[in-house]
Amino acid sequence: MEELKVEIEKKLKEITTLKEWNDLKVQYLGKKGPISEQINKMASLSSEEKKEFGKQLNSLKNEVNLLFDEKKSELEKEELEKRLEEEKIDITLPATKILKGATHPLEKVIDEIEEIFLSMGYDIVEGPEVEEDLYNFEKLNLPKGHPARDTQDSFYITEDILLRTQTSPVQARTMESNQEKGPIRIICPGKTYRRDDDDATHSHQFTQIEGLVIDKNISLADLKGTLEIFAKKMFGEDRSIRFRPSFFPFTEPSIEVDVSCFKCGGVGCPICKKTGWIEILGSGIVHPNVLKNCGYDPEKYTGFAFGIGPERVAMLKYGIQDIRAFYLNDMRFIEDFNRIEGGNE
Ligand code: DAH
Repeated sequence: MEELKVEIEKKLKEITTLKEWNDLKVQYLGKKGPISEQINKMASLSSEEKKEFGKQLNSLKNEVNLLFDEKKSELEKEELEKRLEEEKIDITLPATKILKGATHPLEKVIDEIEEIFLSMGYDIVEGPEVEEDLYNFEKLNLPKGHPARDTQDSFYITEDILLRTQTSPVQARTMESNQEKGPIRIICPGKTYRRDDDDATHSHQFTQIEGLVIDKNISLADLKGTLEIFAKKMFGEDRSIRFRPSFFPFTEPSIEVDVSCFKCGGVGCPICKKTGWIEILGSGIVHPNVLKNCGYDPEKYTGFAFGIGPERVAMLKYGIQDIRAFYLNDMRFIEDFNRIEGGNE
């Protein structure tokens, strides 16, 4: 037994890794190791001898276990020190800059407009960007050959399919799909496309937010009240709005809405071109033909509609000079914008 202990001590001194330690432990203390072998041999001894031999074997086992434990903590300590040395971090190195994501300024404005109308009980609906001529024009009181089609130079895919030039077709789709032909209160944000040459105020792809309210006895007063709330929430409590007569084929009367200049308060400045007013959207009372085309009885129902251009709102509100800035994906623009806005949490 003494020899065995000396042998184990010697071997333990030689090993340097936990793996070797493990192998050695199995070799000496495992089921097939010399100590177990001795324990097995005890069966043939007399009970007197068993007692004596058993005692010695047990203390050997305890001592060997202790030797192994000590070696293990020694090896673990060494390994930890080695790792700490290897994985040393140089805290004087400059940190890698983590780019922080932020909401696109246009998306921010759309979110803001959505929140305002959601708070007034509107639903948000969407429609297809690849649209039928039927919905984009015909049902909206713009039959083939109508001169007003020329103002919306379109990307046609086939004779009857095009990229929508406005979000107004969603009005027709919503009215048509409403089975009960009851009240409607929706806004529809989305992308629109026109064959315009891109410049500071034109983009071949831009966004619109359509609004539609259909109910009994809806009048211009409802439209005015609604848009006044919108203008105040969007541009500030002190804002007022004014209506100017206009023309859209799908509304009668048609109205253009101006908001009093939020920069100069109406006195006159470069933003409002010294008029004190800024045009923000088109709107009107839904044309009876549109109601009829979409299955509503114009004798029973009336409604109002409006179309907002989020790019224009964003440009006015944040002093952005060029519409193309929204679509160039220039990180400096987005980052600058977020800095001005106090970032995005
Ligand atoms: N669709 C029109 C446009 O793109 C904007 C518009 C005007 C929408 C009046 C409306 C509306 O719903 O009532 O020029």
